[in-house]
Amino acid sequence: METWDAITSRRNVREFEDRPIADEDLERILEAGRRAPSSRNWQPWDFVVVTDRDQLTELAGVWRGGGHIAHSAATVVVVLPEVESADQRTRAAFDAGQATVQMMIAAADLGIGSGHSAVGDQDRAREILGFPEDRFAYIMIDFGHPADRPLRPIRRPDRRPLEEVVHRGRW
Ligand SMILES: Cc1cc2nc3c(=O)[nH]c(=O)nc-3n(C[C@H](O)[C@H](O)[C@H](O)COP(=O)(O)O)c2cc1C
Repeated sequence: METWDAITSRRNVREFEDRPIADEDLERILEAGRRAPSSRNWQPWDFVVVTDRDQLTELAGVWRGGGHIAHSAATVVVVLPEVESADQRTRAAFDAGQATVQMMIAAADLGIGSGHSAVGDQDRAREILGFPEDRFAYIMIDFGHPADRPLRPIRRPDRRPLEEVVHRGRW
């Protein structure tokens, strides 16, 4: 897929075919996250990748908006360090967002769907995934082959108009 097609095709996919993602495709998605830019090249993230069906089902219970994780082929949980200052937390969150979308676009390039899920119950997430006390799960990204319809460029995305969003030269 062309880069532009990957960008315009990406959407939150919440229904997945019951088949795995090829190992090399999953590695590429993770590598896309690893290569993301970060403030001062801090790379605050760790990625916990889950492909076991029982574990995915448990993970789906961590947040009421994350039911689709149970049916994904793989879910990547972006884990960040607990930090002292609000400034550091903001920077880590920005960096995690960049890694997230980079993985999602890499997936779309391969025709693989992805979706976000927030993390509600940190204790439960820690039990399931085993990350240390000084870390927290920031976002869960589920991946799989879309069961609803293939990824195709979306002609009319549900977005504010460009003219409203963009201020040229001055607000
Ligand atoms: C930080 C963040 C958290 C999100 N959490 C959830 C979630 O818990 N469950 C869900 O189904 N979608 C979640 N979403 C997906 C958004 O609802 C979705 O990206 C938005 O509606 C735009 O739709 P699109 O991604 O299909 O373009 C989340 C998105 C972001 C960026």
